Amino acid sequence: MAVTLRPFSQLAIALFLFVSFAQGLNQKYPRCDTPDQGSDLQVFHVFSPCSPFRPEKPLSWEESVLQMQAKDQARVQYLSSMVARKSVVPIASGRQITQNPTYIVRTKIGTPAQTLLLAMDTSNDAAWVPCSGCVGCSSTLFASEKSTSYKTLGCQAPQCKQVPNPSCNGPVCGFNITYGSSSVAANLGEDNITLATDSVPRYTFGCIQKATGSSAPQQGLLGLGRGPLSLLSQTQNLYQSTFSYCLPSFKSPNFSGSLRLGPVGQPKRIKYTPLLKNPRRSSLYYVNLVAIRVGRKIVDIPPSALAFNPTTGAGTVIDSGTVFTRLVTPAYEAVRNEFRRRVGSAVVTTLGGFDTCYSVPIVAPTITFMFTGMNVSLPADNLLIHSSVGSTTCLAMAAAPDNVNSVLNVIANMQQQNHRVLFDVPNSRLGVARELCT
Ligand SMILES: *[C@@H]1O[C@H](CO)[C@@H](O)[C@H](O)[C@H]1NC(C)=O
Ligand SMILES: *[C@@H]1O[C@H](CO)[C@@H](O)[C@H](O)[C@H]1NC(C)=O
Ligand SMILES: *[C@@H]1O[C@H](CO)[C@@H](O)[C@H](O)[C@H]1NC(C)=O
Ligand SMILES: *[C@@H]1O[C@H](CO)[C@@H](O)[C@H](O)[C@H]1NC(C)=O
Repeated sequence: MAVTLRPFSQLAIALFLFVSFAQGLNQKYPRCDTPDQGSDLQVFHVFSPCSPFRPEKPLSWEESVLQMQAKDQARVQYLSSMVARKSVVPIASGRQITQNPTYIVRTKIGTPAQTLLLAMDTSNDAAWVPCSGCVGCSSTLFASEKSTSYKTLGCQAPQCKQVPNPSCNGPVCGFNITYGSSSVAANLGEDNITLATDSVPRYTFGCIQKATGSSAPQQGLLGLGRGPLSLLSQTQNLYQSTFSYCLPSFKSPNFSGSLRLGPVGQPKRIKYTPLLKNPRRSSLYYVNLVAIRVGRKIVDIPPSALAFNPTTGAGTVIDSGTVFTRLVTPAYEAVRNEFRRRVGSAVVTTLGGFDTCYSVPIVAPTITFMFTGMNVSLPADNLLIHSSVGSTTCLAMAAAPDNVNSVLNVIANMQQQNHRVLFDVPNSRLGVARELCT
């Protein structure tokens, strides 16, 4: 009896192992440990299985939309306060924290290398890393004491003059900043950082020692703005202030996009519009949005709603950190009204901050952002969000929040997904081409 059972149980064990192995493979998809190649970093959505910052329990569709909207509101307020400020102080490392990452990349810091996930943020210059011993930090920490190449920077270091409100903690250059209800204390340090296979020696960043309050940063920040101490300024020789990304759709958390640093391998066939520079807010990437088309109709928007004005900060920025595009009220209303007219007689409902939702299937018109020299027509995937059961569809844009200085239009990441967006700073131009990276 035992003799006949044995092969059977072996088979059962083999089958069990095979099934577990197959499941294991399945669960590991995407392979979070696939190394980055060349100067290309994989970009993960913050809800990706590779992200430690994803919610513990998967959120329902409504919950995740409302949560993203609430964070967007804070983000747009932050961007608006940035452009409204009258001073001429450049936004240096760590001036503001954005607690709202959508996309993260993997970097290696120190010797031996420690892997850290940093949030990608095109509207910020900050280079932040939560460091070990940090009081109030919540996630993976950089153990600076374990890195033989880490150095704290002294009060006399030239970089110390580029951070806001530097102070001397003994001989160490430190600085404190506040963001919303939070405050953060950091020391300025430097270490080698590896981006994909590129090595950047002596990269300067804020090593966070203490964070208080509810909007404290969970992760490091990879600011892709152009101000002093930004990654672009620090890697000028290597990357020549050129990078592009393709952001995967948040509907497909299992896919990664890419952040390509430097001029090598950038697309040749791509449409460009000039980048505009606001000298007071050098890190923001302004573009000249001249009109918006819904279907074939160019909607009626007062020119002042779109015009670039470096004095007031008005105009349009491309931002990787905001999720849903925000237009100043007259522009948004013109787009929304034509969109509704084109959809027809279906009853319009609301969901949180979205005011153009439908509970029946609709045929949506395309929306085209018309920039100087470049039209970008957005297909439905960049315009509509659908509940998973398919019962609700919303136009994924909104008017700028009422209570902020509403002069800024923000082209957000949902509208950029599955496009390659190329920031060519030396030639002062921004390129956009369709690319499926999902
Ligand atoms: C992502 O992968 C996980 C594990 O394989 C799977 O359970 C999940 O359904 C996938 N999600 C999507 C949106 O494809
Ligand atoms: C910065 O914060 C730290 C820790 O909270 C505190 O000890 C220090 O006095 C602060 N420095 C300044 C200049 O405010
Ligand atoms: C780190 O940078 C220093 C120069 O600052 C260099 O001597 C060292 O070899 C670098 N280490 C690694 C692992 O790249
Ligand atoms: C954008 O589209 C408009 C028509 O709506 C056209 O007149 C214009 O030439 C286009 N611009 C570019 C750069 O293709």
